[in-house]
Amino acid sequence: MRIAIVGGGISGRAIEQAVINRGATPQLFSRSTGFDVLHDDATRRLAGFDAIIEATGTFTTSKKTATEFFTRSTRALAAAARNNGARHILLSIVNCEHPDVQGYGYFAGKAAQESVARIESENVSIIRTTQWFEFAEQNLARLKVGPVSFIPQMTIQPVALAAAAEVIVDFAVGQRKDSTADFAGPEVMTLWELTQQLPHTRRLTIPLPLPGRFGRAFRQGVCLPGPDAEVIGPKLRQWLTARPAQHG
Ligand SMILES: NC(=O)c1ccc[n+]([C@@H]2O[C@H](COP(=O)([O-])OP(=O)(O)OC[C@H]3O[C@@H](n4cnc5c(N)ncnc54)[C@H](OP(=O)(O)O)[C@@H]3O)[C@@H](O)[C@H]2O)c1
Repeated sequence: MRIAIVGGGISGRAIEQAVINRGATPQLFSRSTGFDVLHDDATRRLAGFDAIIEATGTFTTSKKTATEFFTRSTRALAAAARNNGARHILLSIVNCEHPDVQGYGYFAGKAAQESVARIESENVSIIRTTQWFEFAEQNLARLKVGPVSFIPQMTIQPVALAAAAEVIVDFAVGQRKDSTADFAGPEVMTLWELTQQLPHTRRLTIPLPLPGRFGRAFRQGVCLPGPDAEVIGPKLRQWLTARPAQHG
């Protein structure tokens, strides 16, 4: 079985490993491998794959930029999946469609992406997870000024990316077929608490209260999963202990 993984910055390698563990054959596609989802012929380039995992991303807080990027990515990959008879697996975020967070451009873009996928993709599974443990490191690198990184005040129930990758592959190989499924890790914490547990860093960290309605919602737990979410993966302490071995 051949699985195309499109995008997948931080997630691409984890999904690639999970595909290999399952005895299937992965191939990564992104601009750095010569594939631009916004401009290239996805149907032609992704012919011959049994599943297309959509893990594209762009870091922006602009609703317009996020919506344009995510919806164009999904239109292209929905068409490629349909034309090639492949399964389409879209990575998304628990509660990104919540009304309280539509003022946060990235989440508005993800919500628009989910809507396009539901309408245009015939054989899609939207796999929504909470923030990954690895999100804390992405955030340290993204929200930085000189030696300082800003940590948005968020209450989260983070999940290990490796555990998320395993369930994504369950759907890619056709073992599971729900059109939407939510997944979360086992513990509630703040992004600040998670970040402070990382063996990161000489970086200075400063809490960042996000403004307005979405900022309040993030602090009060809008990113927490509902009762239907499946809890997967290790607790933070176990994940931290296992990490050196995982990363060689
Ligand atoms: N981070 C989290 O905690 C989390 C949680 C739940 C869901 N998700 C979702 O999971 C998805 C993947 O997240 P991530 O954090 O792994 O992404 P990421 O680190 O932002 O990486 C996204 C990748 O997309 C590729 N890309 C960007 N523009 C592209 C284009 N025009 N054509 C082809 N590839 C393009 C980039 O590779 P190139 O530069 O090589 O093109 C990049 O490596 C996102 O949709 C995100 O919303 C993330």
